[in-house]
Amino acid sequence: MTSPSDLKKSALEHIWFHVTPPQTLRAEHGMMLFKEGKGCYLTDVDDNVYLDAFSGGAFVTSIGHGREEVGQAYAEQAAKLAYVTPYNFAAEPTVALAEKLSELAPGDLNRVFFTSGGSEAVETAMKIAKQYHWFNGEQKRTKVISRRGSYHGSTFYAMSITGASHEYNNKIFSPLVPGCLQVPSHNCYRCEYNLSYPSCNVLCVEMIEKMILHEGPETIAAIIAEPIPSAASIYLPVDEYLPRLREIADKYGILLIIDEVINGFGRTGKMFACEHWGVTPDIMTVAKGLTSGYAPMGAAIAGPKITERFESRGGRESGLNHVISFGGHAASAAAALKNIEIIETENMVQNSADMGAYLLEGLQELKKYPIVGDVRGLGLLAAVELVRDKKTRAPFLPEDQMPARFNGHLMDLGVLARTYQVVEFGPPLCAGKTEIEKIVDVTEQTVKWFCDEVGIH
Ligand SMILES: Cc1ncc(COP(=O)(O)O)c(C=O)c1O
Repeated sequence: MTSPSDLKKSALEHIWFHVTPPQTLRAEHGMMLFKEGKGCYLTDVDDNVYLDAFSGGAFVTSIGHGREEVGQAYAEQAAKLAYVTPYNFAAEPTVALAEKLSELAPGDLNRVFFTSGGSEAVETAMKIAKQYHWFNGEQKRTKVISRRGSYHGSTFYAMSITGASHEYNNKIFSPLVPGCLQVPSHNCYRCEYNLSYPSCNVLCVEMIEKMILHEGPETIAAIIAEPIPSAASIYLPVDEYLPRLREIADKYGILLIIDEVINGFGRTGKMFACEHWGVTPDIMTVAKGLTSGYAPMGAAIAGPKITERFESRGGRESGLNHVISFGGHAASAAAALKNIEIIETENMVQNSADMGAYLLEGLQELKKYPIVGDVRGLGLLAAVELVRDKKTRAPFLPEDQMPARFNGHLMDLGVLARTYQVVEFGPPLCAGKTEIEKIVDVTEQTVKWFCDEVGIH
């Protein structure tokens, strides 16, 4: 049998890991090799057990690890019929899943374009939006507005509208897709206008209207927004933000795309995060929690406003010139259906709301420490923002190596989370009080330890 250390060596040699630089992978707490998972826990090849406070490392395994019935649903369907093309074939579970998603999705969203993951769902939404306007005779509507700080994926369009790491992407992968306009984020803790709510009058959303007018409304195809940006930080919009965004989009005939790739399927304590603010998008993108990672799958979901345009057109163009071979994959659809059944029958959306409130309450206590600048979250999506100077909100310096050291300490104490400038938590939606208390306790211990390490008291 291959030893754990040989396996790790082989992994480093043969797997091109995503994003993480090789030096980081080779450093302590770098690359990790797991052999199994159960519920909220992951076991590595050296038999260390970790509390997975980040759902598989990317807010994915919403129902928790090791749910055999999902594996069985996948296996049974794969044995019976794994795949047929999404061109004009469908398998039974794919139909059932499309129907289920139409039932769950907000408002009248009822037509599902299946993809293999979130980036493709976003690409799909972009193309649907452009073709919708094209059908309307508005071919000049080619631009898309997104927010700085948001993440929408790694494929070219998704990357081009992604606000996080825009400088890096623009430098290395330039030219990005033209017509991608970015507006300030709605991160109140780091307001780009140095204003405070409510006296700011939510300038960040009003500036979107100004940008639309500046560019010419007839040139804007869509606005895309995650309700709670999650991949690069986690911050909530103020209550007026999303309804106002909907209003602005409607006023200028622009489509509103809500990206629920992380926020969706109960992560924020509602099935979809946009429900917190009563907003129905024109297109919604989903992935991750759709299958909880038991199979790769994503989707862009639209409603009659859009599909009727396509239907009424006739001819080749009414089909959307866009195909993802694995879209609607039969076995993945079976896994997704079982995953959603578990979310529903085990009340995981409500558990996310309840345990999320408990987590937030616990983490709020950490504000008493000098390096904890802000604590925020909704459902089982929470962030602790660490700062070098609480008064000025100055972040840690590169030489402090805060993210790696802080995250490493969390791991040493048995908790897997993700730390940039912000420590992010997104445990499986089945987490109970034991898991939440451990997350809070270990974070507190790590905050105290890091205060000592950097001499801030
Ligand atoms: C909001 C959002 N959209 C899209 C994506 C891209 O999804 P995927 O990694 O499945 O391509 C992500 C991934 O983290 C995301 O957070």
